Formats: sequence, structure tokens, C-alpha cells
Amino acid sequence: MKKLLYQFDTDALPSVFDNVVGYDGGADHVAAYGGVNADNVGALVEGAIFTRAQKDKKHTGIFIGGGNLPAGEAVLAAVRKKFFAKFRVSVMFDSNGCNTTASAAVAWLAHGRSLAGKRAVVLAGSGPVGQRAAALLAHEGASVALTGRKRDVVQAACDRIHARFGIVVDAIEAPTSAERGAAIDAAHIVLATGAAGVALLEERQWQDSATLELLADANASPPAGIEGVSAGDRGASKHGKILFGALGFGALKLALHRACIARLFEQNDLLLDAEEIYALAKTLVGKTATP
Ligand SMILES: NC(=O)c1ccc[n+]([C@@H]2O[C@H](COP(=O)([O-])OP(=O)(O)OC[C@H]3O[C@@H](n4cnc5c(N)ncnc54)[C@H](OP(=O)(O)O)[C@@H]3O)[C@@H](O)[C@H]2O)c1
Repeated sequence: MKKLLYQFDTDALPSVFDNVVGYDGGADHVAAYGGVNADNVGALVEGAIFTRAQKDKKHTGIFIGGGNLPAGEAVLAAVRKKFFAKFRVSVMFDSNGCNTTASAAVAWLAHGRSLAGKRAVVLAGSGPVGQRAAALLAHEGASVALTGRKRDVVQAACDRIHARFGIVVDAIEAPTSAERGAAIDAAHIVLATGAAGVALLEERQWQDSATLELLADANASPPAGIEGVSAGDRGASKHGKILFGALGFGALKLALHRACIARLFEQNDLLLDAEEIYALAKTLVGKTATP
């Protein structure tokens, strides 16, 4: 019985990254569909749930990805709506790598230490990775603020986090470097989740902070999101702070993504979303080799 992964991508062109990791996670075949939405996914799901005997359904899995988090969430809801009784297969949800990337970053930040009571600021956190990271930092007990260039965009992201996780995240409008510098005042943790190659914070803005303990940058494309954090940093020490770069926690992100794909084929009723993926990250952190 071949392990079949159906990759449903909300973008027109399905992600090659997600396709490769589908194979590396153990699928025998990955069928990638682009332009998937809540209206057209139903027939695809029916094909996945009605074709194999109950004992064999675990050999079929669904991965939902794409650059648009709300669109991905709508597809996830539509997929789950199609399931009934034993007619279901396991599903992983990871639009733009939001759950695996945020889980890897936050699992490293929380590794061997408590984040409870800390103030965390997610810079440029209105995207998929930032939203999930904010929720996970709050889950670890931190009070979380999220910055972005426009108040309505940041507030909408915070509202989505509240609707999905029941967590209150402060919205901070900070379009300039100076305003982002002010936003991290009194923070203990700064996580940058800006778009690739966007510089958000200068080293001089954080190096002398009396409160900052941990900095992490999800952006792997130069220039860095946080100047002074190297992409390969994984617990490096600088100016008395502990640093994590995109490649530094990227090894865990990849291992986690592969492990999630492998899990899909262990049973037919698994949902791997933020909570489940983060729980798995906590079991893997500190144990993965570099990719
Ligand atoms: N390390 C890993 O393993 C890994 C895996 C996946 C992704 N990533 C990286 O993680 C980061 C976050 O991913 P994502 O998909 O959430 O990002 P995204 O949606 O592309 O961008 C995140 C936010 O960046 C802000 N932004 C965009 N252009 C900007 C500009 N010119 N100046 C200032 N802010 C700007 C936007 O916020 P506002 O419009 O609200 O300002 C946007 O919501 C990316 O750098 C991505 O490459 C890393």
C-alpha cells in the first residue's frame, strides 16, 4: 500500500519546498494541487477518504499549505467538514511554514528556560509565521506584542490570533526602524518574522538593552531582519544576549516538518496544526542535527 500525500496549496503554483519535504517525510508519492480553495477542495477530499479500506486509510494524508494563512485556514475547515464517521484521513496544516517555523523558533527560545512572565515582541509579526509565533510565545506564558507597518493590518492579525487561540496580543504600529526600536523597550524576547531580506532592527538598538535576553530572526535572506544576528546562530552569545538565526533553528523546522509528515501515515484521524506541531517540536528540540 503506497503512502500517498495530497498537497493542497492555496497559491497558484504549489510549493516545491513542501513537495520535497513530503517525500523526505516518507510519502511514496506527493500529488501537488495549486489554486485550492474552500469551494473546490471538497471533491479532492472525497477522493482521499472514499478510496481505501478503513485499515488502509492511514496510508493517505493531506498537507495544506500556501502563502495565505486565512485562505489556508478556510481550506482546512472545508476539508474537515467533508470528514464524517470513519471517512477521514490525517491532515497537516502549515501555510507558508507557519506552524513548523514558529514552533522551531519558539521551541528553541523556550528550550531549558521558562518564558513565563517575559515580555516578547514579534517584529513584523502580521504574516503567517509571526502570528503563529505570537500565539506560541503566549502559550509559554509570555505577554506578547506584535508590530507591523500599519495599525489596521497589525490589529487584524491580533484579532485573528484571538479568534483562533483565545489569546490577547498587543498591536503596535511601527513602520520605521526608530519605532521598532521603541517597541522593544523593556522586552525580554524579540523575534523578527519579517518578509525575506527586510531589515527591521539595527544592532545599536538592541545591544545595550538592560532587559533583552533572547533574540531570534526567522529571515534567512540577507540582510538580516535583526542586524547582528547571524543566520547560523543557535544559542550564540553576543552583548550578553542569546541569539538564534533562521538557519540555526531551521534544522529543527525541517526535522519537525518531516516528522509531521511521517506521523500522518501512522493513523487516519490526526490533525497537525499549531498546538500539535509545537508539542512535537518540544520533543525534538536540541536533538536534531544540522540539515
Ligand atoms: N527559518 C526558517 O526555517 C523559515 C521557514 C519559513 C519562513 N521563513 C522566513 O520567516 C519569515 C516570515 O515568514 P512569513 O511568511 O510570515 O513572512 P511574510 O508574510 O512574507 O512577511 C511578514 C511580514 O513582514 C512585513 N513586511 C513585508 N515587507 C516589509 C517591508 N518592506 N518592511 C517592513 N516590513 C515588511 C509585513 O508586515 P506589515 O505589512 O504588517 O508591516 C508582513 O506581514 C520570512 O523571512 C521567511 O522567509 C523562515
